[in-house]
Amino acid sequence: MTIKETLSWASEQLQFSCERPLFEAELLLAYHLHKERVYLHVHEHDEVDNIDSFKSLIARRASHEPYEYIVGKVSFYDIKLFVKQGVLIPRPETELLIDEVSSVIEKEDITSIAEIGVGSGAISIVLARKFPSLKIIATDISLDAIAIAKDNIEAFGLSDRITLVHTNLLDGIEEQIELVVSNPPYIASNALLKSNVKDYEPHTALFGGEIGDELLKQIITQAKQKGASYLACEMGYDQKASMEHFLTQSGVQYIKFYDDLAGLNRGFITKF
Ligand SMILES: C[S@@+](CC[C@H](N)C(=O)[O-])C[C@H]1O[C@@H](n2cnc3c(N)ncnc32)[C@H](O)[C@@H]1O
Repeated sequence: MTIKETLSWASEQLQFSCERPLFEAELLLAYHLHKERVYLHVHEHDEVDNIDSFKSLIARRASHEPYEYIVGKVSFYDIKLFVKQGVLIPRPETELLIDEVSSVIEKEDITSIAEIGVGSGAISIVLARKFPSLKIIATDISLDAIAIAKDNIEAFGLSDRITLVHTNLLDGIEEQIELVVSNPPYIASNALLKSNVKDYEPHTALFGGEIGDELLKQIITQAKQKGASYLACEMGYDQKASMEHFLTQSGVQYIKFYDDLAGLNRGFITKF
């Protein structure tokens, strides 16, 4: 099959699983051929080598497996991270949490932070690269996530500044921490999710409890107990009222909520 025929076949295979089947077919064919997408348009009459292996990539995507797991990579902020099944694929909205945290780190000259739920390492790695004096303790309850974060942290040469700890929240962490950051699981356990999320991404990274905000509340309580001055968290678009109530009851000096690019409530920064 030529590149042109292959793309036409592949986009038909992807029509029920992808919003942009031709675009995703092009991305996967470019990945298969180790070329840029533009190459496909210039060489549309060339034959595709090893077509069976390309067909198996298309079969995976047609079964709703996320593109990022198939190619093992995701772009996030200013970096590319290695990802595979077992770890959450970092989302663009989490870049906003990084910007919110960065302004506090900069303003308050913060040098010691903790991240709860490090996942692939996305937040900790970007922050460590932005702030060369920053030391980070990054925890996760998932050993799969810790292993993938370790690979990413090593790839960026940050193992001396990001310490990974396999634990629940901040249990056992005794070091003095000025700020805690977290993009925790915050989805309600009965929420309806698309197949690419619910059938492929780890449920420990998605579901925060029956209502969804249970883990967020535990994080607020623990960050305060551990003596952190600041806490910054991503949250669900419908969790502002419950977070505001819980934070106010916990006794905080201020709360700033921020929105995502769709204008939905997406997170908060608070000072204890
Ligand atoms: C939504 S993912 C965020 C991953 C990454 N920080 C990101 O933004 O892409 C939440 C992470 O929290 C971890 N997690 C869930 N419950 C936890 C707990 N009780 N203690 C520590 N980590 C937890 C999950 O394993 C997952 O890696």
